[in-house]
Amino acid sequence: MEIQLANRLQKLPPYLFAALRRKIAEKKAKGEQVISLGIGDPDLPTPDAIIDELCRAVKDANDPNRHRYGCDVPAGEFKEAVKNFYKRRYKVTLADDQIITTMGSKDAIAKLPMGIMNPGDLAIAPVPGYPTYNIGHTFAGGVTFQVPLLRENKFLVDFDAIPLEVRRLAKILWINYPNNPTTAVAPLEFFARAVEFGRQNNILIAHDSAYSENTYDGYKAPSILEVPGADEVAVEFFSLSKAFNMTGWRVGCLCGNASAVKALSLVKDNVDNGTLRAAQFAAAKALDMGEEIFPQINEIYRVRRDLVCDALSAAGWPVEKPKATIYIWAPVPEKFGGKSGVFADELLDKAGVVVTPGLGYGQWGEGFYRISLTYPDAVLKEALSRIVAMAQ
Ligand code: MLT
Repeated sequence: MEIQLANRLQKLPPYLFAALRRKIAEKKAKGEQVISLGIGDPDLPTPDAIIDELCRAVKDANDPNRHRYGCDVPAGEFKEAVKNFYKRRYKVTLADDQIITTMGSKDAIAKLPMGIMNPGDLAIAPVPGYPTYNIGHTFAGGVTFQVPLLRENKFLVDFDAIPLEVRRLAKILWINYPNNPTTAVAPLEFFARAVEFGRQNNILIAHDSAYSENTYDGYKAPSILEVPGADEVAVEFFSLSKAFNMTGWRVGCLCGNASAVKALSLVKDNVDNGTLRAAQFAAAKALDMGEEIFPQINEIYRVRRDLVCDALSAAGWPVEKPKATIYIWAPVPEKFGGKSGVFADELLDKAGVVVTPGLGYGQWGEGFYRISLTYPDAVLKEALSRIVAMAQ
């Protein structure tokens, strides 16, 4: 019997990185050497102190709950660490009912719409943008209204351009700064405007803050929760994945508006059993050590950022050095007529290098491609020399 896929899956394009993974596997199966600058999955190891804390917690024979469901016996230390981190970093005070532990950001981003949207409801998502916003809406039976992130607007959402009818019908508006994939950053005034928009239109502002700690040249990314009264209309997804090299650990949190946190918690009650307790202890340790860990990790990415941007500029494709994220968002070389898919396919076929085509992030991503900096300097150098040789 051939199982027929559900409509909700048929409505979605193949998951961007799953499609790239398949292409890479095909090449490798043919014995070809491929350099992948695709997914943003840090190559650097999780810092030792965090691993030590995981091991301690897993081995702690005095803790009768160490193997149990992370939702039923959460490590209170994690919530405390989140509160302390937000206090130190942003001067934001969070109450207990304003925080929920998540399995990284992706699963919570996909689950939140199920707690808030009814079939046929609208939600607003930026394009280019992280595909999971639309995936969450689609799984909830909802529809995505796309707003463009344009270079001429510094890749910021233009709230005034969102039609009145959409404002009336939308339940959620997603924003994400520092931004994936464009690497744009947003000032606190932008978040204040987002909060005002949410309040005026009765729309939950969901801020994906996955890259808030991957910053350079002294830049510090603000939190939307720093805006006075933000917790009336906004939530923020914080993840340990990119900040602490912990992608596989699946730990993060959603903070802010208590009723939205509750909605996610009710969805999670029904579909998951929480994050491993020992991982929660380790994540608490990570947050407590943040100020010590971030500069060490970011310095490595800064060197990589400079290496890639300088090589692209030397080849005649200047790219401004981003202040944040672990990516470079570069215009497709002229030879390819702005077609990111054609460029990415030829790059893989002729030079064995994988980049993420901008079109994969939606229509307004066309004309760009993304390089992930989660690869060692030598790999980046080799990849850049192949890109230049192929595309110049
Ligand atoms: C990316 O490459 O955009 C991210 O690694 C994807 C993710 O965070 O799920």
